[in-house]
Amino acid sequence: MRQSFQKDNRIVPLGIMLLTCIFFVYHFVLVRGSLDGLHMAAAPNTFFESSQHGNLDSDATANHAGEAVDEPVHNAIISPGFSAEPFTSSSPSHPPNGLTTDDVVLMFKTGATVLWKRVPIHMATTFSSHRINSDNLLLYSDYPETIGKWEFIDVLSNSSEQVRKSASFQLYLQQEDYESRQNYAELSNMPGDGTGPIGGWKLDKYKFLPMFQHAGRNKPNAKWYIFMEDDSYIFLPNLLRHLDKFNHKDPWYLGSLAWKHSDYFAHGGSGIALSRGAWEKSFGKDSRIVQKFEKFTEEHGCGDHVLGHVLHEYGVEFGETTDDDRFRYGFNSEAHWSAWYEPDNWCKPVYSWHHTHGKDVARYYEIEQTWDFEKSPLRYRDIYEALVAPYLRPRVEWWDNGASQYEIESGMAAGAEPPSSVKSTETWRSAWVSVDACEAACITWADCVQWASYDDRCKMDSRVSLGSGISESDSRRQTSLPWVSGWLPRRLEHWSC
Ligand SMILES: *[C@@H]1O[C@H](CO)[C@@H](O)[C@H](O)[C@H]1NC(C)=O
Repeated sequence: MRQSFQKDNRIVPLGIMLLTCIFFVYHFVLVRGSLDGLHMAAAPNTFFESSQHGNLDSDATANHAGEAVDEPVHNAIISPGFSAEPFTSSSPSHPPNGLTTDDVVLMFKTGATVLWKRVPIHMATTFSSHRINSDNLLLYSDYPETIGKWEFIDVLSNSSEQVRKSASFQLYLQQEDYESRQNYAELSNMPGDGTGPIGGWKLDKYKFLPMFQHAGRNKPNAKWYIFMEDDSYIFLPNLLRHLDKFNHKDPWYLGSLAWKHSDYFAHGGSGIALSRGAWEKSFGKDSRIVQKFEKFTEEHGCGDHVLGHVLHEYGVEFGETTDDDRFRYGFNSEAHWSAWYEPDNWCKPVYSWHHTHGKDVARYYEIEQTWDFEKSPLRYRDIYEALVAPYLRPRVEWWDNGASQYEIESGMAAGAEPPSSVKSTETWRSAWVSVDACEAACITWADCVQWASYDDRCKMDSRVSLGSGISESDSRRQTSLPWVSGWLPRRLEHWSC
C-alpha cells in the first residue's frame, strides 16, 4: 500500500507537468491562430490605401469594351468556378521546398497585331526577374520580335504548306510585308478591329499546339507549364501553392471549365496549367501531334478548344470534369470588376483575371507584391476589399453593376414571386416604379446586396459586382433614362471565412 502510494505521489507532479505542457502547446497554437487572423484582417487595408489613387476613368472602361469586342467570348459554358465547400488548405505552414517559379515554365502568348499595345505593361510586372527567372519564361507570338532582353518566338514558323494555304493564315503571311515596307500594321488602313489588322483572332488558334509542343521540348525539366494570354494576369505565388497539391508526374490539365463541340477544355484567357505528366502522355508520346490535328484546327474556331480536344484524344482529361473540389474556383474568364463576389467564392483563392486593361495588371501586380502568401492565400474577398469596395456607393447614376438575379419590369411585376425572405410582396412588386422603390425592394430582401434601376425596370442580386460607369459615348446615354446602380456593402459583413 505504502509503496504504491509513494509511486502515485511521484506520478502526480509528472502528470501536472504534462498537463502544463499540453496547456502551453494549446495556448501557443491558439495565439498563433489568432495572429494569423489579425494579419488577414489587416492586410487588405494596405491595399485599400495604395489603390486609392486608382480611379475608374472612362478611358479604361472604353478600352474594356473595345477588347471585349475584339475577343469574342467563344466558350459556350464558362465555369462559375466555385463550389459550396469552403477552401480548406489555408494552412500557413507551406513546405519550405514547395513549388517555386524555378519549377515551372510561364508561357505567354501574344500576336503581332496586339503586341505593342498589350505587352509593355507585362514587362514591368509579369516578366519581372524577381518574380520569374527569364529561363522559365517563354514568350510566343506570330512574328519574331526582340524587345530589350525579351525574345518573342514565332510559334507558327514551322507551319506546314497545307496550313499556309488556309484563308485564316493570310495575316501571318502578310506580316513579312509590313516588315519589308517598314509600315506599321496598325496604320495601314486595313479594315481592322481597332487594335490592328483583322484576322489576329483567326490566326490565334494555330498557335496552341505548336506552343505546348515547343515548351515541353525546350523545358523538359519543368514540372508545370503555365499558360497565359497577353490580356490576362496570373497571381503566380497563389497558383504555385495550388499546383503544389497535385503530383506533376500525373496528367493534370487545369483551368476554368469551358465546353464546345462536346469537348471539355480549359478556357485559354483564364490561364491553363498542364503538368509534365500530362505533356508526356500527349505531346511526349507523339512527335507529329501538330500535323495530325492540322485539319481539326482549321475546322474549329478556338485554339484552347483544339488543345483540350487533342489532350482528350491522348487520355488527358480536364480536371474539372471530375467531382474533385480542388478544381472549382480560381481561374477567371473576366476581370475583377465584372466578376461576382458571393458567399461561395468569398474565401477561395484567386489565380487569374482576363480581359484586363494595363491599369488592372499594374494593380494586380502591386497587390501580389505586397501580399504575404506564406500567411494566407489571396482570396476573392481580398480582391473585393482592395479593388471593388472602395468604389461602391449607396447610389450612382450612369452605372451598370450587372445586377441580374431578379428583374422586376412593369409588364410582369404583378405576378412576380419574391424570394422567401421578402416580407412585403407589395414592396417587391412595385420595385419597377422608381429608383427609390427599387432600392426599397432590395432592402426588403435579406440577401440583396446590389440593385440597378432604369426605365421601368429594377434588377437585384445577392452577389456583388462592381461593373462600370457608362461612358459619355455609350448609346444607352441616348436611349434610356439614367441607369442607377446601388450597393448595400454592410450586408457583406456577415460573409465570413
Ligand atoms: C521549328 O523547328 C526547328 C527545327 O526543328 C526548331 O528548332 C524550332 O524550335 C521549331 N520552332 C517551334 C516554334 O517549334
